Amino acid sequence: MEITQFSYEANKKQTKMIKTKIIATLGPATTKTENIKALIDSGVNVFRLNFSHGSLEEHANLLDTINKLRSESSHTLAVMGDLCGPKIRTSQIEPSQKGSYEGPERRGNPGLKKGDEVAIVPNMETGTINRFGTNYEHFNRDIQPGDRVLIDDGQIELRVIDKDDNQTTCTVIVGGFIQSHKGINLPDTKVSTPSITERDWECVAWAIEHQLDYLALSFVRSAEEINHLKKHLRDQGSPIKIISKVEKPEAIENLESIVHVSDAVLVARGDLGVEMDLAQVPLIQKRITKMCRRLGKPVVVATQMLQSMIETPVPTRAEVSDVANAIMDFADAVMLSGETAVGEYPIEAVQTIKQIARNTEAFMDEHNSPRPQIEADDALAVTATLARSVAQILDEVNARLVVTWSQAGGTARLLSKSRIDAPIVAFSSDELFCRQMSLHYGVLPIYAELPANTQDFIRRAEETILTKKMG
Ligand code: PGA
Ligand code: MN
Repeated sequence: MEITQFSYEANKKQTKMIKTKIIATLGPATTKTENIKALIDSGVNVFRLNFSHGSLEEHANLLDTINKLRSESSHTLAVMGDLCGPKIRTSQIEPSQKGSYEGPERRGNPGLKKGDEVAIVPNMETGTINRFGTNYEHFNRDIQPGDRVLIDDGQIELRVIDKDDNQTTCTVIVGGFIQSHKGINLPDTKVSTPSITERDWECVAWAIEHQLDYLALSFVRSAEEINHLKKHLRDQGSPIKIISKVEKPEAIENLESIVHVSDAVLVARGDLGVEMDLAQVPLIQKRITKMCRRLGKPVVVATQMLQSMIETPVPTRAEVSDVANAIMDFADAVMLSGETAVGEYPIEAVQTIKQIARNTEAFMDEHNSPRPQIEADDALAVTATLARSVAQILDEVNARLVVTWSQAGGTARLLSKSRIDAPIVAFSSDELFCRQMSLHYGVLPIYAELPANTQDFIRRAEETILTKKMG
């Protein structure tokens, strides 16, 4: 087995490894085996199966391909299933009397204009742009006059003026064309839909059966929701770890308790930018990444990282800066969504992230920033102290690698969060824990059989490192 994630340049002091982890969403652009293989070869660490799109059968096919490639490759890869959560959507929409919402009639037709009236009728299966339905059963009950209704990533804005038992009447603030099954965000409304819907529970059962490594939970609002999913996984004997997607104002209010109970956190800037003031998103990103650093939890920055690469082979300067800044914010991983799922340049997007990471990480290693004291859970308090001591030693000793036995990944995680400069080679005799460690910044997980004792481990670790030419 050759470690290709780790390109060591023989005569240089520093071992070269991209420490920032890359998550790639699979989709229509990346279903073929050769495409997935190319993503692995270009450095993807975690694949995201997005349950908001595609059938479970399609996801099973993708997973089969990943599993096949994973057994042939030296790369340790994790697979994350992303639960849709209570995403509210518009119903099917037919052309209105005023003209079609799409097609040639759309040209010159303003669609909904400021001041127009619109009725939302829950459970209506097919509507028009002036009167349509939603999959949110209790829409009428939960919404209040004055609340905003944002449609299609906030491109269309309505405001509720009245409601009765059957429908909610809104006035158009920012117009446009409403299309079928577009997302609806209700930033002013206390949404009563459970965070884990019936469809999500089906996906959870599927994820357990197919032994995914991570489950991401969308639209998290409180720690209880994560505990609920955790308990379910535990009861089923599943070791899947949970990534909380922070994309609602309620999650920001309950941030600390959410981070505490989560295995990892994802800054979901897409919905966050609709649910909150867009100008707040960069600050929220900093707040979340900072808190995750303090609490020793991996954090992912996601959405529109290299959005323009969906269509063009070169990113914008702003996007390159954004990826670099996410790494400087101490993100453990960055996620590609449309770029790899539906884009024209998925491989180039991954290579671009790597190139930015290579440069940014070198800069960060040169300019050490103060390390926070990690407030780990009680069970890992000693490990946190150990990680801090290792970091202190490395300030004085120029080590090329840090090698650890990290059976369940706790030591690897806290060493990673301590942001030592040297790559962390983390051994475990558990394949699943090895895969889960793929998410941690700077960690290279290696599967090995349990050593007989410490000496045996040191001997075997040395052997592995030398044969893999890592140090
Ligand atoms: P999504 O989550 O892609 O599942 O919507 C990410 C986000 O909202 O940024
Ligand atoms: Mn989202």
